[in-house]
Amino acid sequence: DKIGYDAWLRYASIENGELREEYRACCSVIVITEQTKLLHTAARELAEAVGAMTGHKPEVTSVRDRQVPSVMIGIKGKGDTDGLGDEGYTLQTLEGGQEEAECIAIIGVSDRGALYGAFHLIRLMQMGEPINKLQVKESPANGLRIINQWDNMDGSIERGYAGKSIFYDSGGFVKDFTRIRDYARLLASTGINAISINNVNVHREETKLITAEYERTLSKVADVFGAYGIKLFLSINFASPIAIGGLQTADPLDPEVRKWWAERAEDLYRAIPDFGGFLVKADSEFRPGPFTYGRDHADGANLLAEALAPHGGLVIWRCFVYNCLQDWRDRSTDRAKAAYDHFTPLDGRFADNVILQIKNGPMDFQVREPVSPLFGGLSHTNQVLELQITQEYTGQQKHVCYLVPQWKEVLDFDTFAAGKGSTVDKIASGALYNRPYGGLAAVSNIGDDACWTGHPLAQANLYGYGRLAWNSALSAEQITTEWIRLSLGRDPVTEDVVSSILLRSWGIYESYTSPLGVGWMVNPNHHYGPNVDGYEYSKWGTYHFADHQGIGVDRTIGTGTGYAGQYHTQPSEIYNSLERCPDELLLFFHHVPYTHVLQSGKTVIQHIYDTHFDGVDAAAGLLAAWQTLRGKIDNAYFELVASRLTEQSEHAKEWRDVINTYFYRKSGIDDRQGRLIY
Ligand code: GCU
Repeated sequence: DKIGYDAWLRYASIENGELREEYRACCSVIVITEQTKLLHTAARELAEAVGAMTGHKPEVTSVRDRQVPSVMIGIKGKGDTDGLGDEGYTLQTLEGGQEEAECIAIIGVSDRGALYGAFHLIRLMQMGEPINKLQVKESPANGLRIINQWDNMDGSIERGYAGKSIFYDSGGFVKDFTRIRDYARLLASTGINAISINNVNVHREETKLITAEYERTLSKVADVFGAYGIKLFLSINFASPIAIGGLQTADPLDPEVRKWWAERAEDLYRAIPDFGGFLVKADSEFRPGPFTYGRDHADGANLLAEALAPHGGLVIWRCFVYNCLQDWRDRSTDRAKAAYDHFTPLDGRFADNVILQIKNGPMDFQVREPVSPLFGGLSHTNQVLELQITQEYTGQQKHVCYLVPQWKEVLDFDTFAAGKGSTVDKIASGALYNRPYGGLAAVSNIGDDACWTGHPLAQANLYGYGRLAWNSALSAEQITTEWIRLSLGRDPVTEDVVSSILLRSWGIYESYTSPLGVGWMVNPNHHYGPNVDGYEYSKWGTYHFADHQGIGVDRTIGTGTGYAGQYHTQPSEIYNSLERCPDELLLFFHHVPYTHVLQSGKTVIQHIYDTHFDGVDAAAGLLAAWQTLRGKIDNAYFELVASRLTEQSEHAKEWRDVINTYFYRKSGIDDRQGRLIY
């Protein structure tokens, strides 16, 4: 019943005797010379890992015996470790001499850096790497590496597909924090350093999280995360001054409102000295915000920034702002344009401790979207890239859909904002414009499900997110290999099979769902399963405009909504051109007849038929591939994945038949291969 609970911190006993002996010998004692909470965490984690993997749990001491091989965990302090930010570390094997035994030194710039160093050493041993010649120097590419929980205090999780919340139950916090602590371990081991613990849609009870009522519990939660170097953030309700403050207004320029927020911040920091700050969804999908008072998002964000600044707190302000009450008859409004239109005019007006959180695409975490043009539209504003680990539109953790390759494409996308090489990763990290803050944010995919993520293979998305947030230059292949070795062991056949399943899964999911970048075509509200016209006449602004002749959204500059013009020249010209626009995004940018010939040489309609038939075969292939691993993987784990892949394989047929039938009936064009379409 604990299938997959340890995830990538599963410390299987090392089978290779020589290696096991090497690890045991190198790590027989762990020395921490300074006594800080994080160094204690680091020592304890390392001791446990070594104990489980070698059968000999090292002793942790504060004095080094030079004759005994040991691991030293310490802090060097800024200045000494050139080029490493304050979360960096070095890992070094110091050769012994006559009087002195060999030693592995894990030296962090801060104690948080040292903790990351300890997890690095653990990872090397899990991977079966030698540790007798270490020369590692690491520091994170991104300052902020945050996870957003969309948990509600009633225990539900918005867009959660892995059970109930591990934080809340029936309107309050859970009593037992064991799971929260184990979650903190998993996150810290990948380098996550911040978490917001309540849904961005802040309901009634959650609005009170910033009041005295929750201070004590919150400070305990903050301690649990704090022991793993993770800062606590809260999502707040912009209308709190009215909802819980007894004020008549939440106008960001009102002196009483400003005073009220300043007092809340003071109280919070008294209870939680290392509190991170606020995450805010305002004027978005019926959430209150500054628009009510004729103010803009800079006014709104700066209000909170002013309250948090004296304590070093941050405001993370989301850019998911659009008109969700659109009339489908109105062809001039394009939801894709909204974030750019709202936020680029405000560039430079946000306080220094405000960070804008921008979704990867202009719509909403579809299986395929272009990169949001807002990256490239702001040069005087701190930004973080928001990703969705929870698989809302990508199979809801019933289907396997490994998103690391998608995220890599986003991070590598060149905006050309400051010339060639202005990639999203450099904008998000803050490097391109030398911003003080930047990083990655992502919506979590975990719940109280035994394996955390519903589908055991969905753990790879959480792991991959953390690793990319730490180092966006890592390849999808490398992250995949790591996750497999850590979670499933080091059998080469298993590694081949599982990495091929993971690395193909996004493309396969895309192939049997909505075609060529047009998106949506899902059932309204819960967003699972095919429904081609599910959002076609809705107010959410999510259309495909399919008729008997063709399909797609004309977002070109000349005849369309002009969205393609929100990019810099280079990408703009490509997207705007019917000939040059990449096939996978064609219908996002262009409305074309079904007979339009793609760069692949196929017509649009034949592409739809082919990908949907092939996609179903490929989904069946994922199951078949997994079946070959029977006996190589823990049986319960094996069966759980097999049952999910079976469900996926069946559900893919539903997608295929609904999509193919719809377009066959609309277009009247036969499948060239004469396959069964209903
Ligand atoms: C999507 C999702 C919502 C969520 C929203 C957001 O629209 O369906 O559940 O609240 O994104 O990111 O705020």
